[in-house]
Amino acid sequence: MPDKLSAPALDQLFTTARTRNGWSDRPVTDHQLRELYDLLKFGPTSANSCPARFVWVRSPEAKGRLAGFATPTNAPKILAAPVTVIIGYDLAFADQMPKLFPARGEQMRTYFSDPALASTTAFRNGSLQGAYLIVAARALGLDCGPMSGFDNAAVDVEFFAGTSIKSNFICSIGYGTDENLFPRNPRLTFEEAGRLA
Ligand SMILES: Cc1cc2nc3c(=O)[nH]c(=O)nc-3n(C[C@H](O)[C@H](O)[C@H](O)COP(=O)(O)O)c2cc1C
Repeated sequence: MPDKLSAPALDQLFTTARTRNGWSDRPVTDHQLRELYDLLKFGPTSANSCPARFVWVRSPEAKGRLAGFATPTNAPKILAAPVTVIIGYDLAFADQMPKLFPARGEQMRTYFSDPALASTTAFRNGSLQGAYLIVAARALGLDCGPMSGFDNAAVDVEFFAGTSIKSNFICSIGYGTDENLFPRNPRLTFEEAGRLA
């Protein structure tokens, strides 16, 4: 039976963790990105479909291309961050089902080859994997700055041409500063957000 995490650990993951807009010069290594992937990949997805695909944008040239498709307020944040990952989802994720679900791989491949089901499943589970990325990054002592303010279609042409992968959202990763950090906004209470049934 797992223990409840300590209060400082919960703070780091949720309570005091903030979305960052400013970034220090401290780099993020390839090793850290692999460590991050090797944690987030264990987050659960429907039928273990793992539809998220990631482009870890770190070269100044590639960041410049990505920033060119972002809103004017998001572009400088991309350029300042050590890494901005594009979280995409593969509409053809079904092709990987024999590897990802060996017990019933061919059956799963056929099941998820329906385009409407594939689209819903890829977007839902790819979004979940994006959330696992944020929490895993925080667990590793990194900060995140997720953003959806960019031209998805243009990013898809630039970074996913010739593939069945679509961009979902992007997330800067690094060591955040308090630059442009807004006061924490309120959250809904338990009662406002739901009810026991
Ligand atoms: C999927 C997603 C998309 C977002 N898009 C943007 C964005 O385009 N630009 C921006 O400045 N912040 C964006 N945000 C940041 C949110 O506004 C921020 O996470 C939220 O207000 C909570 O802030 P906090 O973590 O500091 O409490 C996005 C966050 C998420 C999760």
